[in-house]
Amino acid sequence: MPTVTFLNDPGPDGKPKSIEVAAGTSILEAAKRAHAQVGYACGGVCACSTCHVYVRSGQATLSPQKDKEEDILDKAFDVRANSRLSCQARLSSGSVEVEISRESRRAYADEHPESRD
Ligand code: FES
Repeated sequence: MPTVTFLNDPGPDGKPKSIEVAAGTSILEAAKRAHAQVGYACGGVCACSTCHVYVRSGQATLSPQKDKEEDILDKAFDVRANSRLSCQARLSSGSVEVEISRESRRAYADEHPESRD
């Protein structure tokens, strides 16, 4: 089963949160299950860009980017070659490591005020 690791979101043990999920699961769905701090203002329907992550490894194993994702990513902050919308990127096999964008962490904090330090 594919594994997603959220490199810049440590769990209580100090290690990056990581979770094994079924093939076909999106990175956002994996983040929710792992309680990783990925924002999702539009609910995962490719309309907001708050779920923006940087894929640090395993990019080739993800579902390809579609035109709508590219259009929405154009509106995100600090877009890089390895940027993806986590609600649109689905896992197939192997491991994927992601870094949650600053924009997404901020959106998560707004959506989950109880998570703020
Ligand atoms: S959650 Fe809005 S684009 Fe992914």
